Amino acid sequence: MECRKLFYGRKIGRKLSSAKVKILDNGLKNNTIKSIKNWDKAVLEIGGGDGEFISFSAENRPHISHLEVEPFINGAVKVFENIQKKGLQNLACENDIFQNVQEKLPTVFKEIYILYPDPWHKKRHNKRRWINGVLLLFLSSRLVSGGKIIIRTDHPSLVKFFETELKKVNLSFVRGEDHLPNILKDFLKIYNTKYGRKNMSSSKKDFSFVIYKD
Ligand SMILES: C[S@@+](CC[C@H](N)C(=O)[O-])C[C@H]1O[C@@H](n2cnc3c(N)ncnc32)[C@H](O)[C@@H]1O
Repeated sequence: MECRKLFYGRKIGRKLSSAKVKILDNGLKNNTIKSIKNWDKAVLEIGGGDGEFISFSAENRPHISHLEVEPFINGAVKVFENIQKKGLQNLACENDIFQNVQEKLPTVFKEIYILYPDPWHKKRHNKRRWINGVLLLFLSSRLVSGGKIIIRTDHPSLVKFFETELKKVNLSFVRGEDHLPNILKDFLKIYNTKYGRKNMSSSKKDFSFVIYKD
């Protein structure tokens, strides 16, 4: 039986201070998926890192529930910290890989964000690209009618990869900044995510995909 490794990134970075351990414990107790009461047209972000965008969106859209799924502990702590500091009642975070959470997700999402995913651009690492057609098809099954999946990357090799994968599974998509939801356009006017700011590829350009569910 094939046993595919599911995660290649880092789960922990800098050692957590005792104050951060407290924030983590409190978040894991009170602000995970179980705390979401209103699933109506919710927003999901996968691999949000420090959660800059999902926190901004939750703060600016208090009537919509938001869920972040992020395996990196230091990232999850930042999300829990925002929840506590800003008193956000509509943001939850699962500190786990998406593959362990996906089956718990109902079909309720109006927006699913994947911002600057790991590029794995070396050929020998290409099989680590777990955000592929099969996963995107699964995500589209969790969208409400009219819902969208938004992907943003600065890596031209990922652009080609996503185009091929989306065509393989027959998902309709458009490319370009104009199609981004207003909340992301507003966020990008003021900030970007940590990896968006780094823009580590040589392209120095961002590419966006919006995948639609009819
Ligand atoms: C390149 S970083 C981008 C982080 C953030 N979106 C940004 O723009 O700053 C990729 C993120 O994906 C997360 N990630 C990697 N594998 C994942 C998985 N299987 N499930 C969920 N997130 C994952 C990593 O922990 C990391 O935070």
